[in-house]
Amino acid sequence: MKKTLFLRYLMLLFVMCKLNAQDVNFNKDWLFKKDTIIGAETVAFDDSNWRNVDLPHDWAIEGPFSNSNNARTGGLPVHGEAWYRKHFSVAKNLKNKQIAIEFDGAMSNAKVYLNGEYVGERHYGYIGFELNLTPFIKFGEENVIAVKLAPEDLSMRWYPGAGIYRNVRFKINNALHIPQWGTYITTPVVSRESAQVNVQTTIKNTSEIVSNAVLETQIKNQKGEVVASISSPISIVKKSSDKILQEIEVKNPEIWDISKPVLYTAISQVKVDGKLVDEFVSHFGIRTIEFDTNNGFLLNGKRVQLNGVCMHHDLGPLGASVNYRATERQMQIMQSMGVNALRTSHNPPSPEMLEVCDKLGIVVIVEAFDEWQLAKVPNGYHKHFDKWHEKDLRDMIKRDRNHPSVIMWSIGNEILEQSKKDGWKITKELNDICHSEDPTRPTTAGFNYYPAPFTNKLAEQIDVVGMNYWPAHYKEIKENYPEIILYGSETSSQTSSRGVYHFPIEFNEKHETNHVSSYDAIVGPPWAYAPDVEFDAQEQNPFSLGEFIWTGFDYLGEPTPYGGRDNSTNGYWNADWPSRSSYFAPVDLCGFPKDRFYLYQSQWTTEPMVHVLPHWNWEGKEGDVIPVYSYTNCDEVELFVNGKSFGRKIKGVDFTEIPSEYHGFEKGMYKSKYRLSWNVPYQAGSLKVMGYRDGNEVATKEIKTAGVPSKIKLIADRVEINADGIDLSFISVQIEDKDGNICPMAENNITFKVEGTGVLEAIGNGDQTSLVSFKGDTMKAFSGLCLAIIKSTDKPGEIKLTATSKGLASDEIRIQTK
Ligand code: GAL
Repeated sequence: MKKTLFLRYLMLLFVMCKLNAQDVNFNKDWLFKKDTIIGAETVAFDDSNWRNVDLPHDWAIEGPFSNSNNARTGGLPVHGEAWYRKHFSVAKNLKNKQIAIEFDGAMSNAKVYLNGEYVGERHYGYIGFELNLTPFIKFGEENVIAVKLAPEDLSMRWYPGAGIYRNVRFKINNALHIPQWGTYITTPVVSRESAQVNVQTTIKNTSEIVSNAVLETQIKNQKGEVVASISSPISIVKKSSDKILQEIEVKNPEIWDISKPVLYTAISQVKVDGKLVDEFVSHFGIRTIEFDTNNGFLLNGKRVQLNGVCMHHDLGPLGASVNYRATERQMQIMQSMGVNALRTSHNPPSPEMLEVCDKLGIVVIVEAFDEWQLAKVPNGYHKHFDKWHEKDLRDMIKRDRNHPSVIMWSIGNEILEQSKKDGWKITKELNDICHSEDPTRPTTAGFNYYPAPFTNKLAEQIDVVGMNYWPAHYKEIKENYPEIILYGSETSSQTSSRGVYHFPIEFNEKHETNHVSSYDAIVGPPWAYAPDVEFDAQEQNPFSLGEFIWTGFDYLGEPTPYGGRDNSTNGYWNADWPSRSSYFAPVDLCGFPKDRFYLYQSQWTTEPMVHVLPHWNWEGKEGDVIPVYSYTNCDEVELFVNGKSFGRKIKGVDFTEIPSEYHGFEKGMYKSKYRLSWNVPYQAGSLKVMGYRDGNEVATKEIKTAGVPSKIKLIADRVEINADGIDLSFISVQIEDKDGNICPMAENNITFKVEGTGVLEAIGNGDQTSLVSFKGDTMKAFSGLCLAIIKSTDKPGEIKLTATSKGLASDEIRIQTK
């Protein structure tokens, strides 16, 4: 991308006449109205009473929650027409420039008009697109850009968000320039001593022949030092574009790896007669990837077991509105669970997500579609597939192919064409498109039927076969198709509500509270199974690349198991109100870990850890037997209740029987070697686990029976943030007793007040049934916790957050903005 300039005031566009080429942040000062409006594209249209908004903006997250909004997609008003307008001026002396607007994504059915004229459109809300404004711009005058969005109801199986929910840039280029996604960087030869970096640069010339130009490319390391450079003469005929390949050697390269994600930067400069006319900045990494039928995935020659998560794109209480810090926090929480891989189900991610994964060292499967020609929902992508799939897929790859984190292109999730005899034809076409845009990465897809994608020849069209929910068949598939490269593209689909426990341990039953017990025995859709089943399958089948659990974070919409098919949606799946967000993940919508987080951590991390559940506040159950589970990566765990040992259990030797059911397994008790358990007569006090390795105590966790709620405690993830009007501080709110124990069933109503250089951006509590607005100032605690998200303004200073609740001692916290 070009050097980005952040312009607050439109007047400043006049200043830019001195600049050669610029990407101007175009997020500020839009006008918005959600309505069906005739003539809102015209210049003279009266928008004086429209609301002022800054982008990225998701209108639906403001609510209100309502069952009439379709709880399957979150119970939020995601459909209907809406308009965005922006007035801006462009200096007269920019007249010879090429002007474009770039949207990272607009949800959805976007139509763009400039000064009353139709400029272009894009249906798919997840794809970035650029439109050429040059023919419509009035230089030296005011311009009005108008964007109409018209997302349809029943167009997705989860919460899509609504609005111009990703970033927008205004782009000013010279006639000779490097266009959008203009570099393609690969590293075909990599050794410790040397790497060959191939930079293919597209150069566009919208004017007369250019013959005296050069393309200079510099490679900078992470410290900003130039480590290699090359200069190539270029000559580009009138009104055309050309691709220049530069092969650059980087000596002693620092390799991008999961454990050390080192990035390089390529600075591409176009010069005419020695004068700079364009500069383009690309980030990339030097690494190798291989996929092997027996050894799975190799990064830089070493096998890496993919401990992956599928993730939808929403950011919980922030909705779909993209935010770098919120994205980074999600993936840091995932990394602390042991995650090293992401599948962007079931659509292209935000550019920010890939930037985060590049920086954190998380490998990514970028997925294109959830539907091809056959419908899963009445207004899904199938309506647009024929017209748009090629452009959407090519653009996805062009946008994302420089990211070292990206390792595969997924052409679809559980596409219904699997069951069709000629389903292989589209598979082949999409596979070929991917290879033509990027021959360096394999293609994949997530299949959920078996054996249909094999008998219908879809599986053989792609490079790496993902199976959704078939762990019991990995072995059989491999025996039948020995050449296959296989992994679990979607696994488990276990559900739970944080901090909630039901007795006896429930097994595929719905509960009157619309919550799911956190004992993590199976409650879920018919294809779901406990995480333990997949752990075992991965161990038994080392040829598998690994797994991608459904999902890393809870997301808005799809609140299985509280839902089913009904007549109000023509037989399509709808939720049992008030359930409005998913129960699937080991982490709730606010980012608070559920117990299952520690089950994954016990399998995916090595730093000694031990976890114990349930909470220890069972007043009225004194003497009743309570099942106590422990998740650990230690050899043994000893359980103590009020200091009295209930004995040690050895991991891998002592089993826990959990009720389970899964196609391919018997319904009944599943013996898990991944959990340790005891049956303990309840008595209030302390519940403590100690983890041992080689006989030495290396980890411990203690839960104490809490007294009555007495005070609020605020804990910020960061107490210093950027004063840029974008950065966030996530503040966890704990309800504690007088001794500082978290009250695990507290539901107190907390009211927030923000003063100083910040705003209360959103609040939440992780309860899948809460209908309290994310945008209000009062939130009920759920299982003792809730969350406040504070956003800086662009003024440096201090933010003070105060949290109060009737009957509790209040708390306040200060965040510095710099
Ligand atoms: C899968 C599907 C996901 C999600 C999941 C829930 O079949 O691919 O999008 O719906 O089921 O279990």
